[in-house]
Amino acid sequence: MSARTTRLLLLLAAFLAGLGTIFAIVLLVVRPETAAMVPSAAAIGGPFRLVDQNGQAVTDRDFKGEPYVVFFGFTHCPDVCPTTLMELSDVLDKLGPDAARIGALFITVDPERDTPAELKDYLSSFNPRFKGLTGDLAAIAQVAKSYRVYMKKVPLDNGDYTMDHTALVYLMDKNGKFVAPFNLKRRPEDAAADLRRYL
Ligand code: NI
Repeated sequence: MSARTTRLLLLLAAFLAGLGTIFAIVLLVVRPETAAMVPSAAAIGGPFRLVDQNGQAVTDRDFKGEPYVVFFGFTHCPDVCPTTLMELSDVLDKLGPDAARIGALFITVDPERDTPAELKDYLSSFNPRFKGLTGDLAAIAQVAKSYRVYMKKVPLDNGDYTMDHTALVYLMDKNGKFVAPFNLKRRPEDAAADLRRYL
């Protein structure tokens, strides 16, 4: 094969792989009840070792025995992240004392800017249950990969940058197994009642 043909085939393969990923995500979002049947869904999540907003080491094992929600984002996000964190805060508020038995993780996709101190300041606007997690680039890349999270640095005209990222909220059960994307497009009390089922 010529170099050109090889390159075209590689591009085609990358395109098809991308299509497959999109199809899997659409399946997850549209048909959460079939999530367990999607092979990639079973593989979502995994071990991690990160640092929280107080500088404490946090691993997936700290959440054994309690259900938890995981959201990837970054503190400089203009809209999707703060909206999602606000909606999740409303759900945690509705849980009352039960919120103490549910984990809420905000994992940064922008560890270069999101230091523990930065996360602590940012999360002070939301429900106190949130653990804001950061780490070195390799640790963040690994946890993002295990959750099938897309993240990409996008330069801005002013020399700054923003991050494109997957904005799903992942619901994990008390064994750390992925259940389904967590639906926030409903009344917070209904979402809270749904979460209680996994206690
Ligand atoms: Ni965001």
